[in-house]
Amino acid sequence: MIRLIPQPESHMISEMTRAPSTDGMVRIRIDRHLAPADESAVQDELRQAIAETPRRIPTKYFYNDHGSTLFERICELPEYYQTRTEAALLHRIADQVVRTSGARELVELGSGASTKSRILLDALDAAGHLESYVPVDVSEGIVRRVANELTAEYPNLLVHGLIADFMSDLGELPSEVSGRGHSRLVAFLGGTIGNLDPASQGVDFLRHVHDAMGPGDHLLIGVDLIKDHAIIEAAYNDSAGVTAAFNLNVLSVLNQRFEANFDIEAFQHRAIYDPENNWIEMRLISTREQRVRFGALDLDLTLNEGEELLTEISTKFDRPRLRDLLGASGFDLVDWFVQDDLFALGLATPRST
Ligand code: AVJ
Repeated sequence: MIRLIPQPESHMISEMTRAPSTDGMVRIRIDRHLAPADESAVQDELRQAIAETPRRIPTKYFYNDHGSTLFERICELPEYYQTRTEAALLHRIADQVVRTSGARELVELGSGASTKSRILLDALDAAGHLESYVPVDVSEGIVRRVANELTAEYPNLLVHGLIADFMSDLGELPSEVSGRGHSRLVAFLGGTIGNLDPASQGVDFLRHVHDAMGPGDHLLIGVDLIKDHAIIEAAYNDSAGVTAAFNLNVLSVLNQRFEANFDIEAFQHRAIYDPENNWIEMRLISTREQRVRFGALDLDLTLNEGEELLTEISTKFDRPRLRDLLGASGFDLVDWFVQDDLFALGLATPRST
């Protein structure tokens, strides 16, 4: 699912932007690795997902502009402890991670506004190790903004931005920014690994990350912890209804993207914990029997009253579960940091074989 072979030239636009350091060196480089959407593959994926039992909507459709804004609001909710807990944990352990990894380059998968990366960049800087930062994100605007801001904030930092959907078109993680073969710290934060089914997509994804890493590199991965189910369910059923809006927004995305005609009023948000799999499931329940037309797929879908669409799983971890997932993907878990029994960071290295 992730191509490791660099995209053909026509899809890969590389560009130097002037952001000279004191010696006049260019410090920003942005590459685009977004393959042109293969429309028929995209359609097949959706067709297949909505034919499954229960019917499923691929999680990636949450994140249009409005969805991303709603997600940012989720991160500030009193019930949604994950974001602030991970930030506190990063503050606490950043120095130690820098020492253990010996990294001089930070790569962040799904970097967004790079808020959490700054904590790691500060620790690298304080240790005198900071050379380069590689933000990987689908949003070109955000990668450019971050590159400009960070080269201004850190006077000698090189930024090699990569505009890519790290779930589906992650190219080779570039190392040519430092070009000196120094070890890298790859950060995959926010608990995003939890949104990939651990048995299939999760292992697949981490194997590809593994294959893009060198022997001395480290992976820092954030996971939400298994805990009292009520705490988890509250985080996905917030009293302000932001998560409900986030969940329902996926239907507007499908309406636009595939010329569908979901009546959003006729669906309800539901998030329930599955104690067997230890994951939360977000669903949308059809409150009446209805027929939905997907113009772009030339497909009609009949939903019964009470029928549910599965929109997201968010897997919760403990140390053995992360160790096993990493182990199946070629990594050794070398360190494990917990904050408030709520959220954890695992530090892993590619297993030497
Ligand atoms: C993207 C993994 C951070 O699973 O908790 C938040 C997405 N979904 N509320 C998560 C999400 C509903 C979130 N992460």
